[in-house]
Order: sequence, then C-alpha cells, then structure tokens
Amino acid sequence: MTLETFDKMAAALPAVCFDQAPDVGILLGSGWGAALEMDEVVCRVSYADIPGLGASTVQGHAGEFVLYRRSGKLVAAWCGRRHYYEGVGWEQVIAPVELLRRMGCRTLLLTNAAGGINPALKPGDFVILNDHINLVRANPLVGAHIPEWGPRFPDMSEVYSKDLRALLVAGAAKLGIHAIEGSYAFNYGPCYETPAEIRAYKTIGADAVGMSTVPEAMLAKSIGFRIAGLSLVSNLAAGISPTPLNHLEVVAAGEAAKPKMKALIEDFIARL
Ligand code: HPA
Repeated sequence: MTLETFDKMAAALPAVCFDQAPDVGILLGSGWGAALEMDEVVCRVSYADIPGLGASTVQGHAGEFVLYRRSGKLVAAWCGRRHYYEGVGWEQVIAPVELLRRMGCRTLLLTNAAGGINPALKPGDFVILNDHINLVRANPLVGAHIPEWGPRFPDMSEVYSKDLRALLVAGAAKLGIHAIEGSYAFNYGPCYETPAEIRAYKTIGADAVGMSTVPEAMLAKSIGFRIAGLSLVSNLAAGISPTPLNHLEVVAAGEAAKPKMKALIEDFIARL
C-alpha cells in the first residue's frame, strides 16, 4: 500500500471537502445509520462513486459520505464502513481515515455494534472505548513505512483520548444513558465467537467484542488523531446470550437504540 492508492478516492470527492478542516470525522458502524442531525449539508457522495472504496456488502451500512454543519461544527461523516472480513484488503477499511487526514481533520469518533462481555452490560447499553485488544494480529500499517502516517513504531498507550472519553462519559450521564468505559476486542469475523472464545477474551480484559474499529483506530492514532470510540451493545456475546446470535438482531438493536445514539452523537459534537 502507498499513499497513491488513495489518490483516485480523494479525486472523487468535491473540492469543497478539502477547503476547511472538519472539526470532527465520524465513522458510523452497523446499526448507526441515520443517527445524525444536520443543520446544513455541504456535500454528499455515495461510496459507489468513490473508485476503489465501493459500497459495503453488509446490511445496515448506508455507504455514503456526508460533509455537514451541526452546532457550529463542520462534521465529516462516513455512514457505513468496509470490514476486513469482507476480504477486500485494508485499503477500503482505512480509506475513511486517510481521506480525513487529507482534509486536515484530526479528531475522530468511531462507532460500532458489539457483543457485551462485561456482566454490567445489556443490549441497548454503550461502551465508551478506553482501550482495545487486537485479536486479529494483522495491522494495516504492515508494509513499507509511510511517513505521513506517523512513526515506524507508533505508540498505542492511549489510543482513545482521555479528554474525548470524558466528553462521552459526561454526555451519557447527562442524558441518562447507561454507558461504561471498557476495552473492545477486535475479532476477525465473519463468524461470531464461540462461548469458549468469549470466556477467554473476558479473562484477558475484554468488555465488548466486535469485528471492526481497531484497524481504523490504529492508523488514526499513528497519524496523530484524537480518537473516541463508542460501541452500541447490540447483543450479549456468545455463551452469555441465551439465544444464537444473528445480524438481524444487531440491526434491530441499532434501530431500537437510535434515539440514544442520536442524542450521544449530538451531545458529543456540541461539547467538542
Ligand atoms: N461479536 C462480534 N461482533 C459483533 C457482535 C458480537 O457478539 N455483535 C455485534 N457485532
């Protein structure tokens, strides 16, 4: 991978996207579609019109980039993400972060749906990420060093900014939304985990588990973004859940939690 890999994608975005650095970039994961309130849309671009990015193959992922204004802030939102398990390689997974970098954006909110492992969690709750565990042992930064993406050996001691975490904690408390700070374990997918895997992940400190977010966070942290991560607990993890897991349940949990997701994002943007 080289930076040129992303030139065609950047060229497909209107020039207005690069006029002013967005105050925050948002990446919306499973079930998080339509969680945004907009005062003024600056531009919209379908992923299908961004060469090499392509629409997500996953139900519940809109596949649209929107640059908009809200609460006096300029927000660059990627509605829908590509996943490593789609087998498309890293380029599509991390393109949103690289394109935000080119826009001059350096604050990022990553969202996802996750299985709850910590016993304090039930479906409809939220985890404010304070760390992650990369179970996949693969990394988009592997390969020739790209200086624009930070040092060869990037520090990961505080991937999720303490300050941004505090904003989310304060927002959830004010809104009366149950959210705990915790660690997110990144599993390859597309299979959900086995109960034995979940018991193992609990032992190593995971509070929630999902199939995304960590690749984007590793690149963004290396570049120097301030990062916030927010998981909707769409289900209890395998073996904790009394029923088998399925993606429709994840999408339905997103629908049910939409007012809470909207309120959390609204509050976060306003506090920035
Ligand atoms: N495991 C992995 N990914 C997920 C889950 C889960 O239980 N729920 C939503 N995404």
